[in-house]
Amino acid sequence: MRVCARVPTLPAPTARGRMQPLKGFRDFFPQDLAHLRWIQSAWHSAAKLAGFEEWDGPVLEPLKLFTDKSGDEIAGQLYAFEDKGERPVALRPEMTPTLVRMLSARAGALPKPIKWYSVAQFFRYEQPQHGRGREFFQWNVDVVGSPHPAADAEVIAVAVEALRRLGLSDEDLRVRISDRGALAAFLVALEVPEELHLSVFECIDKLERDPAATRRLTEILGESRAAELLCACDQFPLSRAERLGVVLEACRDWGLGACLEPDLRIVRGLAYYTGTVFEIFARGAKLRAVAGGGRYDRLMSDMGGPPLEAVGFGMGDMVLSLLLAERGLEAPPGMRLEVLVIGTDASMLSPAREVVRELRSRGVASETAYAPVRVSKALRSASNQGVPRVVLVGPDEWAERKVVVRELSSGQQRTVHLSELD
Ligand code: HAM
Repeated sequence: MRVCARVPTLPAPTARGRMQPLKGFRDFFPQDLAHLRWIQSAWHSAAKLAGFEEWDGPVLEPLKLFTDKSGDEIAGQLYAFEDKGERPVALRPEMTPTLVRMLSARAGALPKPIKWYSVAQFFRYEQPQHGRGREFFQWNVDVVGSPHPAADAEVIAVAVEALRRLGLSDEDLRVRISDRGALAAFLVALEVPEELHLSVFECIDKLERDPAATRRLTEILGESRAAELLCACDQFPLSRAERLGVVLEACRDWGLGACLEPDLRIVRGLAYYTGTVFEIFARGAKLRAVAGGGRYDRLMSDMGGPPLEAVGFGMGDMVLSLLLAERGLEAPPGMRLEVLVIGTDASMLSPAREVVRELRSRGVASETAYAPVRVSKALRSASNQGVPRVVLVGPDEWAERKVVVRELSSGQQRTVHLSELD
């Protein structure tokens, strides 16, 4: 796919003369952005509270970074093109390969475990649907350089902490968790050759979404082995998943007991997971996963870096927004205008600006009109905007550098010197 150097033709205006964003992409009006920022601030605070450091990487990466290791599903959803230097590039569909690339170069010098998180925008050419877009924000939390099950449990605890901070309770959430290692051992016991494991994982991952997945599983394994595997999926043989047992214990230490559901059907679509895999769902809602992650102990060395183990997850904003709306949870009101400064006549425009400057320098959110406005109209506008206080700047008081402060709820007012204004 080549990118044209010429200026692209803009989409034709619609009948109403407006242009729409691309399918699967979103406009963020102030209220939408306030909602997104609320979610993101829960992500930031939960990660920081647990000692994770924020990082970021480029939005555009070499195409190969994603085609080599992410697996066929993501590779088929890439926004990929050639840049003007004829280099194959892609908009990032996920963060993990970038994390691995960056750490491959520096990990040796960093104390372990490395605990990093990021909040970034991603692009996947998927069929837009409920909770799924072609652009979305995702929170990534990863621990690199620790093989311990306690690291797996900590990232899950951090994910749940952010959800709790947004007002969701443990009764709202299910953490479905499995271990690809346990599943692989089960397949070995069924004498399924290792080269077939990934295809079996892909089928199991699709069992709940794609009716053809069971047929495909039978084609790969034969009827009796497929039946045995499906039976194990219904009743997780936890006795054969020793490491998962330790992860579950550590999760209980973090107070997650009520949300944990060991489930062999969770394998995850991405190719690089090697051990623990988990997805967080809303209980009782027909929504896709809010978050998903797992352990990827071989990715770093497979990509030419040091042999460092890693575990982490990604949580998207779209399914989460739907879940929050379903539960009636919304962003608390943000910082509003605290004071409207009104010049009582045209000669007071400049003093009103000086008053605003003074207020802003003291951290008070304030504004004044650009042009003369009738006082009655300005008062009406202040009350419509929900501004709690106005400051009236009139020639008589201003002659002594004073102004009138009026509380709109009570109508009480006082005259104060500019230096006493707060
Ligand atoms: P993922 O399962 O592909 O994992 O994505 C994680 C989460 O991102 C999903 O559960 C969903 O909330 C959100 N998400 C994914 N695709 C879309 C989309 N098209 N529209 C809206 N939301 C979406 C990964 O990306 C892994 N790299 C996560 C990870 C980090 N594993 C280890 N560390």
